[in-house]
Amino acid sequence: MASIRRVMRLLDTPIAIPTGSHPLPLKAVRGEVQLDNITFAYKDRNHVLKNLSLHISAGANIGIVGATGSSKSTLVKLLLRFYEIQAGQILIDGIDIRELQLIDLRRCIGWVSQDVFLFHGTVAENIVYGNFDASHDDIVYAAKLAEAHEFIVQLPQGYDCWRTRSKTFRRTTTAISNCTRNSQRSANFDFG
Ligand SMILES: Nc1ncnc2c1ncn2[C@@H]1O[C@H](COP(=O)(O)OP(=O)(O)OP(=O)(O)O)[C@@H](O)[C@H]1O
Ligand SMILES: [Mg+2]
Repeated sequence: MASIRRVMRLLDTPIAIPTGSHPLPLKAVRGEVQLDNITFAYKDRNHVLKNLSLHISAGANIGIVGATGSSKSTLVKLLLRFYEIQAGQILIDGIDIRELQLIDLRRCIGWVSQDVFLFHGTVAENIVYGNFDASHDDIVYAAKLAEAHEFIVQLPQGYDCWRTRSKTFRRTTTAISNCTRNSQRSANFDFG
């Protein structure tokens, strides 16, 4: 009962991040990312990013390296608008992300978190969550893209195998699920 109350409270929580109105159809995304002089602090904390500018060309593969706590994960969360910057601008394909429809923004970014989570279900169900229209062929296609298909078919029940505790499995399936949800336009891997 206490858990249900907590879930209901969560469902009733107002959404603090307002959506913009500018559409960004997945097929139209090029993937250019620009950070213009951004500053950010978590609530009631000191700044973790100050006056940061960065330009990532469309189609570039980049890695961001830094010490623990240097805000690598925070950068990705700001790109997805899990938090709002206090100053500056983040642009995707030249459009301020605050102007974009939130659903479109989040659909065009695939994020594999460093803290991955698997739902209580099969490999296929863990790949497909977030896109219930995906067919079995879509799931296999995404698994092949993530180079996990070979490993999955060797599991006792293949795609119908219940989740395992293997670290590789966890990371790989989460990566795949993001690919499945977001096609191949843009992916963001946060392993640190
Ligand atoms: N939800 C939060 N509330 C308050 N402070 C936070 C929150 N999340 C992260 N921080 C703080 O923000 C700073 C940046 O954290 P972040 O997780 O982005 O670093 P990181 O570079 O990804 O580190 P790691 O290499 O350990 O993954 C740290 O000082 C961290 O303690
Ligand atoms: Mg991190």
